[in-house]
Amino acid sequence: MGCQYYDCVEGGAGSFTVAMPKYTFGRGCLSEAGIRAASLGMRQVALFTDPMLLSGSYVETVILALKASGITVDVFSDIRIEPDDDTVILASRFLAQGSFDGVVSVGGGSVIDTAKAAMVYARYPAPFNDYFGAPVGPGKPVPGPILPHLACPTTSGTGSECTSVAVIRVNSLNTKFVLGSPWLLPEEALVDPSVCDSLPGNAVASTGFDLLCHAIECYTAKAYTRWEKVADPLSRTMLQGANPWSDMSARRALEIADQYLVRGVVDQADQEARDALMFGASLAGMAFGNSGTHLPHAMSYGVTHLMNDITTEGYQVASPFIPHGISVAVSAPAIFRYLADAQPERHLEAAGYLGASDIDASPNEAGEVVACRIIQLMKDAGLPNGIGGVGFLEGDVKALAESSFRQKRAIANAPRVASLSDMEEIYASAMSYW
Ligand SMILES: [Fe+2]
Repeated sequence: MGCQYYDCVEGGAGSFTVAMPKYTFGRGCLSEAGIRAASLGMRQVALFTDPMLLSGSYVETVILALKASGITVDVFSDIRIEPDDDTVILASRFLAQGSFDGVVSVGGGSVIDTAKAAMVYARYPAPFNDYFGAPVGPGKPVPGPILPHLACPTTSGTGSECTSVAVIRVNSLNTKFVLGSPWLLPEEALVDPSVCDSLPGNAVASTGFDLLCHAIECYTAKAYTRWEKVADPLSRTMLQGANPWSDMSARRALEIADQYLVRGVVDQADQEARDALMFGASLAGMAFGNSGTHLPHAMSYGVTHLMNDITTEGYQVASPFIPHGISVAVSAPAIFRYLADAQPERHLEAAGYLGASDIDASPNEAGEVVACRIIQLMKDAGLPNGIGGVGFLEGDVKALAESSFRQKRAIANAPRVASLSDMEEIYASAMSYW
């Protein structure tokens, strides 16, 4: 590709594959839901949402639009934040008991991911762990297509409307793992940024850092050429490492995080910023949906696994609860200090897109440049100060590392592969930053 980062590697992948849903973006576009669902052949829709959104105007708009197109609608809303296997099984039974020919999801990542996973188990029943890779299960491939899916996100972070993965809490292991298959990609994404007008600043902060971390992880991920070449091109996972497509989306998402994240947090009326963040979240989803994330996301799963009685103020959610974006961001500066030596130029480029001023620093300062820019944004957006800031103590470091060390694929997608003791050291240095 004329770029040193993607130089050929013996035995490495020589191709990368890009998958994208049909994508619509714009204020008011939720009212297109009926016409778009009908064009996908939907006549009997299962609408997935959560209890908070159920009686709100976004769900009402979508239901009215579906009905206006002659589509019948049954609603499933028993979806908890950070959905687990119980949620997915319940949702799959709901689907299996109906005669649905399509799914419309209206909600954040929890809703969209539940819809994706439920469609898999409804059409291809199997023991729950079967479609997850190690250490959860044997990683059996999803056998084939699931129902057509029109995804309508209501937060500006997850990007799930553009990815072929679902993140589900596996109760037997008490933490989250990724269920991934090209079949999980929604047919269409309908992204109406006006849904973010009423989001409180703290929700925009958390989801904004999810967006930011998706983007910087994609940009700094191991090059796709360094993943082993697969014999069957159809078995190529979408979590295939950084590639020129993911670079393109990630770059713009990083610029958007630089320009608009703090603005969108501090001023609820800043429509320009919030619209940009919504688009940026999709761009970052398009990026990581075609490259995969790495260590910051892997290490967020230990944080949410072991949060015990930790509560985050400002959320109407039962404790323990740490919003996903915060769980990712709190370790990120320490992680990039550790990783940057493996690909310093790449990290300096990413820091530049994210608004760092000292991008002419020497390669051995790259980690510090990235870390300092993320820390500044964390401060400005009111994020907790490291894992200590969300309530962890020095004595938790070992358990955090052991929990996150199970996220093998994401760990292997980093430019430098962390050992268990490396991860303990990273958590120890992520306790606080200022
Ligand atoms: Fe994420």
